[in-house]
Amino acid sequence: MAASTAERDAMARALDLARRGPRGVNPQVGAVILSPAGDVLAEGWHRGAGTPHAEVDALSRLAAGDAAGATAVVTLEPCNHTGRTGPCALALIEAGVARVVYALDDPGATSGGGAERLRQAGVEIEGGVLADEAKALISDWLEVQRLGRPHVTVKWAQSIDGRAAAADGSSQWITGPEARADVHRRRADADAIVVGTGTLLADDPALTARDGDALFDRQPIPVVVGARGIPADAAVRRHPRPVLHHPEHDLHALLADLRDRGVQRVFVEGGPTLASAFIAAGLADTVLAYLAPVLLGGPRLALTDIGVTTIGEARRLRVHEWLTLGPDLLAVAHPLTPTERSEEGES
Ligand SMILES: NC(=O)c1ccc[n+]([C@@H]2O[C@H](COP(=O)([O-])OP(=O)(O)OC[C@H]3O[C@@H](n4cnc5c(N)ncnc54)[C@H](OP(=O)(O)O)[C@@H]3O)[C@@H](O)[C@H]2O)c1
Repeated sequence: MAASTAERDAMARALDLARRGPRGVNPQVGAVILSPAGDVLAEGWHRGAGTPHAEVDALSRLAAGDAAGATAVVTLEPCNHTGRTGPCALALIEAGVARVVYALDDPGATSGGGAERLRQAGVEIEGGVLADEAKALISDWLEVQRLGRPHVTVKWAQSIDGRAAAADGSSQWITGPEARADVHRRRADADAIVVGTGTLLADDPALTARDGDALFDRQPIPVVVGARGIPADAAVRRHPRPVLHHPEHDLHALLADLRDRGVQRVFVEGGPTLASAFIAAGLADTVLAYLAPVLLGGPRLALTDIGVTTIGEARRLRVHEWLTLGPDLLAVAHPLTPTERSEEGES
């Protein structure tokens, strides 16, 4: 049976409740329990890994028997596995819920299947209600499930002749204030910002996301990769969040660790060696190349070895947007997927 107006309103409310939860290892999920007459009996949301899931949180606000015959409206399909908490599908069955309305299917290999379990127990199921809104809310989390790691954006600023720094290593600033403000806004959308030790030692970056002199509310975790140490007086040590230092060069291990810390979006800000390593490893999902109308010449190229030795191996990109930022240009691009590559080959 299609969702009623009361159920759709409850889903909109459940999405608002979900937003109260933190971004992290688990998705943001909200739940509303409706009486058979369509009145709100209880509300709940997920407060992060290890705490009750949204529907269990909502049920916990009711006395035993109060949910009998009720409808549970949840932004994500109730889970079907025992992790740090028990399966939500079972909790709903045991509470006597008669109908479950949810927005998105659970993509998890182990946690999915809750709707089927509920159906087998005789619970009426309606999925896909306000699915687009729910998908928008947890799109970054869904991307982590799809990739098995956080989404990675690799960003650099280059002169029009492809250099990331002048011959002496100075690179502040290649681009103008509009481009730099754009970088800061994008930093604030990320959960972690990553640089190599080369950049840390050359530029002493603060790795904060700033709006002029003020800090944005959201600050990415600063991450430094490389064997060399972080000086005691490095600006990054004054970042509002403690800096993470990964001495190893293993980028897969780095991303797995960040995923386990709840990082969904990673912003790699160089320098050329680290950016090239991400691209060579096929770990760049989005490329942001800021192009400034300036010539630097010299040896300090924006990218170094990305594993391309002949033109047939070129890493082709698809550009979504060319943005004009004051005197500079920004290409927002992604490396072609295998399907896109074969389509381009055929055309
Ligand atoms: N234009 C721009 O957008 C931009 C951005 C940033 C920096 N820069 C400029 O770039 C220059 C610094 O360049 P850089 O290439 O030395 O900086 P980098 O890429 O930040 O650092 C390179 C170092 O990171 C470590 N590292 C960590 N993971 C690695 C991996 N998977 N593969 C290889 N090395 C890894 C290595 O140091 P260990 O020996 O410590 O392990 C390596 O020497 C400076 O002049 C800076 O101003 C420009």
